[in-house]
Amino acid sequence: MRNPTVHRAPGLPPQVTIYEVGPRDGLQNEPALVPLATKARFVAGLVAAGLRTVEATSFVSPRWVPQLADADQLLAMLPRPAGVRYPVLVPNRAGLDRALRAGADDVAVFASATETFARRNLGRGVDEVLAMAEPVAVQARLSGLRVRGYVSMCFGDPWEGDVAVAKVVEVATRLAAMGCEQVSIGDTIGVATPGQVHDVLDALDGAGIGGRRVAVHFHDTYGQALANTLAALQCGVTTVDASAGGLGGCPFARSATGNLATEDLVWMLDGLGVDTGVDLDALVATSSWLAGELGRPSPSRVVQALAVDGSAGGDRTGQPGTAAPATGGSGAEVTGRAMGTDRAEVTGRAMGTDRAEVTDRAMGTGRAMGTGRAMGTDRAMGTGRAMGTGRAMGADR
Ligand code: HMG
Ligand code: MG
Repeated sequence: MRNPTVHRAPGLPPQVTIYEVGPRDGLQNEPALVPLATKARFVAGLVAAGLRTVEATSFVSPRWVPQLADADQLLAMLPRPAGVRYPVLVPNRAGLDRALRAGADDVAVFASATETFARRNLGRGVDEVLAMAEPVAVQARLSGLRVRGYVSMCFGDPWEGDVAVAKVVEVATRLAAMGCEQVSIGDTIGVATPGQVHDVLDALDGAGIGGRRVAVHFHDTYGQALANTLAALQCGVTTVDASAGGLGGCPFARSATGNLATEDLVWMLDGLGVDTGVDLDALVATSSWLAGELGRPSPSRVVQALAVDGSAGGDRTGQPGTAAPATGGSGAEVTGRAMGTDRAEVTGRAMGTDRAEVTDRAMGTGRAMGTGRAMGTDRAMGTGRAMGTGRAMGADR
């Protein structure tokens, strides 16, 4: 099944803006350096799939986040269709100067509701972080840029435990006061549950940060991100942060795993009849292609379901594209609804990259071999419903 059956539910907005963070929050956590051209192609694929706000990169210290050291070059390479915006994360004046030189049109400053994460992420306490963000926000607005603010660790902190709602409201209010048009409420480690989301958003609303002024940013560590998003929509939120393919995490909070996957979000919103403007097949094709480039399967359930269901295709060079039957690039032999790149041999509804041999509904990357509903990366072999990474072998479930 390639699309959900539409059943509307009461109390939801007709339209939701997806604020895509895959190229920034997703890639910042990748241990191996992703080539600049791959990043640019990833962003272009997201835009082609209909995403209109794509947080493209960070102008943070390259020593702290080497993966995004190419921010200046990346921004210069991106297509600029009308209506598309590429916000970038900026921690301080040095970052803003770089972002302005690179032609950024939106910036996001970031703070934390907890002292420990503020120190780990930005090397200073909450008050000092806000003092560092303020001149960035003020100068960015004077330069005609839009400014967003993030608050991390709003629902729990790995070092400090529970987080007081009053602290979240205080930090969000201070970000709004310095000129952030929207404040994104972060569940950095993915521990929130829907009742807590209601409580935090109600408290923010009471402080004047509701409706379009607030966005939600859920990581999916405990599998709660979609339930929490639905709760947020019921509270009147209309901007939801998500990451294509469910990539993501924060290098400075090890318990942070991938963000809410954009595909999982789009599937739910399509089913609820809520408009996002996103073409799910095209998005899945982009995330499947990137999963091949990164050498492991996407954690998104919808990407896994639709990629092995054969609904996402690509062109002959393995670039993301729209649904297509058999495609293959550079020595690939493909049949049926298969996609293959490089020396892959793929048949049936399979996708394979590099030296993979995959058949039936399998996905394989690296030297993987898979049959049945198997997914494999690197030197994995899988049969039946197996998933394998590294030198794994899996059979059946
Ligand atoms: P610092 O070491 O205290 O910086 O880092 P400094 O001001 O002392 O400067 C040290 C050197 O870094 C100097 O160079 C500066 O010029 C340079 P030197 O003189 O030694 O040659 N420098 C810079 N270079 C390039 N761009 C810059 C920059 N700033 C200083 N912007 C700093 C302080 C804030 C820079 C550092 O802590 C940092 O970059 N932190 C960023 C961490 C980060 O990116 N975390 C992940 C993003 S946040 C997140 O993922 C959470 C979120 O998704 C929401 C959620 O999930 O909750 C948003
Ligand atoms: Mg995040």
